[in-house]
Amino acid sequence: MYPVFVLSLILPTYNEAENLPQLLPALCTALEGIPHEIIIVDDDSPDKTWKIARNLAWKNPDIHVVRRVGRYGLSSAVMEGFLASKGTVLAVMDADGQHDLTLLSTLYGSVHRDSGMAIGSRYMQGGSVGQWDERRHALSRLATRMAIRLCKVEATDPMSGFFAIDRLLFESVLPALNPKGFKILLDLLVHVPRSTRVREFPFRFGVRTHGESKLSRRVQVEFLEYLYDVTLGTYIPLTFIKYCLVGTVGVLVNLAVYLAVSRLFLSGPQTTLQGFSLALLAGMETAIIFNFFLNNAWTFSRMKLRGLQAVSGLVTFNIACLFGAFADYAVSAFFFTRGFPEILSVILGAGVGVIWNYTMNRLFTWKT
Ligand code: GDD
Ligand code: MN
Repeated sequence: MYPVFVLSLILPTYNEAENLPQLLPALCTALEGIPHEIIIVDDDSPDKTWKIARNLAWKNPDIHVVRRVGRYGLSSAVMEGFLASKGTVLAVMDADGQHDLTLLSTLYGSVHRDSGMAIGSRYMQGGSVGQWDERRHALSRLATRMAIRLCKVEATDPMSGFFAIDRLLFESVLPALNPKGFKILLDLLVHVPRSTRVREFPFRFGVRTHGESKLSRRVQVEFLEYLYDVTLGTYIPLTFIKYCLVGTVGVLVNLAVYLAVSRLFLSGPQTTLQGFSLALLAGMETAIIFNFFLNNAWTFSRMKLRGLQAVSGLVTFNIACLFGAFADYAVSAFFFTRGFPEILSVILGAGVGVIWNYTMNRLFTWKT
């Protein structure tokens, strides 16, 4: 029969084929005396980590392998590992040799005894990030400082990838978790009850044995977006900020095309309303098309329209902009005719126009 208390250690892997054969024997030594299972969650690595892992699992009944196809991401891999496990204590660590194996039994012991979570910390007294270049160091410090403010409980290293958690605690916060990116621990610390007992233990973050870090620029950007979403984002959506930035670039495009058409194709500086309007319309429509594609690729990249959907999106975007222009005009004229200063009237109209425009496009072009 299996013992009652089991440590389930999750090893998320992506292209760690070279590291596993060294890590697993060392792990078995480090976990001697602790009933455990090791679950490797691999995202169908091109270097066939899952195959190496499976070969190792054949020789050791405590090792299990989940090969995920079509799903990806560190946090979501860890969550999936936790869900497939049977331990009363769940733990996670990098599969590349960067985390101190000897600390594992301490993390397990701490949660097993009396704490809700136990974290291997690089930032507390006695810990260190080891050999990082200044850029990664600065980025990590900054991210950590911002992350700490969001946590419900005190922790010096909420971005650590080395921790253990009580199974029941994990299951109680599971529905609230957001499995994007690398921030699984932070997400847990943001959602656990304030009364949760968290203990930290210092360790020195080692050097990767083989291969390279998967913490890409994309993961970093996603992290910043997450920070924004859970703070200011509850008042002003990030997509609105991006939409305004795109709109600002659009004004420049409008001006550039106006100048190009009037100076190169028409006679030069325009003196008639007809020529002015022609160049202006060309500039406006180009800016609208430009804004549509930039918003589609960047602002709303999560719901990017393709093919025919993009064509119909461009049409609704044009219509929304047209109505936006009317709203802009109506508001500006309203304030102007009531004696507001000219510039203020223009700004108020533009503000209402942008909000209108954004709202209409959320409703009709990029629907959630
Ligand atoms: N399944 C899966 N899917 N595993 C992944 C993925 C993924 O998309 N991305 C990374 N991993 C695995 C790696 O193979 C490794 O075992 C572990 O997750 C950590 O990834 P690394 O690429 O080694 O990250 P790092 O060492 O640069 O980053 C460290 O610090 C981060 C915060 O500063 C890690 O400890 C992270 O866990 C930590 O969040
Ligand atoms: Mn690592």
